[in-house]
Formats: sequence, C-alpha cells, structure tokens
Amino acid sequence: MQDQDIIDVIDDAARALEAGRLVAVPTETVYGLGADAENPQAVAAIYAAKGRPQDHPVIVHVAPGAELDYWCADVPPQARQLAEAFWPGPLTMILKRAAHIPDAVSGGQDTVGIRCPSHPVAIRLLQAFKGGKGGIAAPSANKFGHVSPTTAQHVRDEFGDDIGQHGRIAAVLDGGQSQVGIESTIVDMSRLATHGPVLLRPGHISAEAIAAVIGELPARPDGAAPRASGTLESHYAPHTPVAMQDTAALADTLARLQAAGRKVALIHYSPLPATHAQVELPATPDGFAYALYAALRAMDDAGADVILVEAPPQDGAWLGVNDRLRRAAHGSTGIVHGLINDTPNL
Ligand code: TXA
Ligand code: MG
Repeated sequence: MQDQDIIDVIDDAARALEAGRLVAVPTETVYGLGADAENPQAVAAIYAAKGRPQDHPVIVHVAPGAELDYWCADVPPQARQLAEAFWPGPLTMILKRAAHIPDAVSGGQDTVGIRCPSHPVAIRLLQAFKGGKGGIAAPSANKFGHVSPTTAQHVRDEFGDDIGQHGRIAAVLDGGQSQVGIESTIVDMSRLATHGPVLLRPGHISAEAIAAVIGELPARPDGAAPRASGTLESHYAPHTPVAMQDTAALADTLARLQAAGRKVALIHYSPLPATHAQVELPATPDGFAYALYAALRAMDDAGADVILVEAPPQDGAWLGVNDRLRRAAHGSTGIVHGLINDTPNL
C-alpha cells in the first residue's frame, strides 16, 4: 500500500471508533481490540467479542503527549517520571481514575490502567481519533484466556466472521509482527504512599529499569493489589496442554514420550532431534519473547498431544517470558507423566 492509502485506512478506523465500533490495533507488545474508552456501550462490545467477564478492567491507550490528569486523579510525580522515561512504550501504569472514566473501563475499581503505545500505526490512529484527545480502551485481541495475537492474521484467526462491516469488529489494522511480542509491564502506582510501586505483570520493561527512574524497586503483588485478568493463574493458554521441562531433562522426556507413541510439539532453544513438530527460538529473552506467541499458536495447530517447552533460564531478564509460560502451562500439571504412563491427565 502507498503511504496515503495507509493513512486513509487509519482515518477510516478512527471514524469507526468514533462511531462506537471496535477496531483491532497493532501495538509493539501485542494486538489490541480497541474501542472509544469514553463510550460504555463500545467498551461493552469488547467484552462481548472476547467472551471476557464484565468486571475485568481494560487498559486505556493514549496519544503521545496526552494529558495524564484528564484520565487520572492524584497523579504522583513518580508516575510522570515513568511516562517521561518509557512512553511511548510497553509500560502500563495503574493510577487513580478520573471521575468520567466509565465503570466498564475500570472494572468498577477506583483505578485506571493507562499506556501510550509506540507502534507507529497505533500512534497515528490515536492522533486521528477524536483529534488526538481520545483514549482507546483495548485488551489483547484474543478470546478470553487464549494466547495474545502478535500479527493481524492471529486476530483474524481468533475472530473470523466477527470482522467486517456486519461483524462486531469493523476493521483489523495490519502493522506487521509486534516487536516486543509479550504484553506490557504493568506497575501499580495508585497506592504509592501505603504500598509503594507494585509490579502486577512483568514485561519488557523490567522492575530494575523502573527503579532506575523512580528510585524504588516495584514489589511483587500482594493480596490487596488491584485485580488484573492477565495475572490469572491460567491465561495466555493454547488448547493443547503445555509442559515445561528443564534443558537437562528435555531429551530424556522427549524420548520417553515418543517411545509411548505420543506426538510432541516442541518449543526449544537448545539443539534437539526432530519431533512431530517444532520451533527453535532464539536463546535471548527479547528474541524468545518476540517469537513466543506465534510459536505457541503454530504448535497448537500441529495436532500434538502436548506442547513441550524448554524452560528458559530463571534470571531476571527472562521474568516476563517465564511468567507467560507458567500461565500457559497452568492446568496441564501431570500431563507428561500421564502421557508416558498412559494414565489420564491429573
Ligand atoms: O501490552 C498490553 O498491555 C496489551 C496491548 C494491547 O496494549 N494489552 C493487554 O490488555 O495486555 P489485557 O486486557 O489483555 O491485559 C491488561 C491487564 C489485565 O490483566 C487487566 O486486568 C489489567 O491490565 N488492568 C487494566 N486496568 C487495570 C486496573 N485499573 N487495575 C488493575 N489492573 C488493570
Ligand atoms: Mg490479554
């Protein structure tokens, strides 16, 4: 497409959002399913399309230079420092919400999640939408609990018939493959005085990088932290069971599964023999994150009995990737043992 065509497509999408429709938007983390954050009916349509519980809050995406005080109340100086340092980029802040934020956006809580994405298509859309003054409420553009999409094709695979003039989703903007590949880091800045900053979801921007800006290391969540559906134990999951295996045990487990006649889809970064289906990912946190969700989707489609994943190293740089893998594998406990010993899973 020519540049002007792309701008026309984005402008059409902005008009659709203004009319209360849904648009799938590429961001640098994953694709989002967007609606006008100030239109409760439009936000409700996101929940319906995703099959997501109504009380789960969604992130509001804003244009570069947006007025934080329009969307949030009692904004602490540290939140402004983080916005200055990391926006546009893959950081979501939880802050006290402004009074006009619909309950559908905040999940009925007194806070709002807000971020300014860095993907050029998302920025162009935010600038075209409501003259750059609007907010786009957008969760990841997948069915509730499923793997987040990192390409426009993934979104089309998720929502198929629901896309187009007569579907719930007016358009899917194609911005290529998301560069980060896993969802944004979420830091709760709404209870600084009593709890300090709290890391609700690890991501590309690390707790240490946040500490370098505000001088305080975000804590891991406690029971009183705001609810976040991306922090549910079972989330980001393919339909095929997922099992993690340490590098040292992987070759042996693979051999035993194959000896038991099982089809194994393998996601790995160390050299290993051929299996039913496999994807070898880069052995770096950024490279692994970039390709992870496409790999999970491809292996989910391979008709295997199990997706076996080589467990990444445990150090801090891999925190975001390990978090998503742990959730993808949740609910598949005992699957490898069951497949080898021919006992039912669980
Ligand atoms: O990278 C991302 O964050 C992507 C892209 C599209 O921006 N979005 C995304 O949205 O991952 P979603 O809905 O799949 O996950 C957002 C997480 C959820 O766990 C939600 O509960 C949490 O953010 N969240 C949003 N607003 C919140 C709030 N006010 N308090 C606590 N958690 C909140
Ligand atoms: Mg999600």
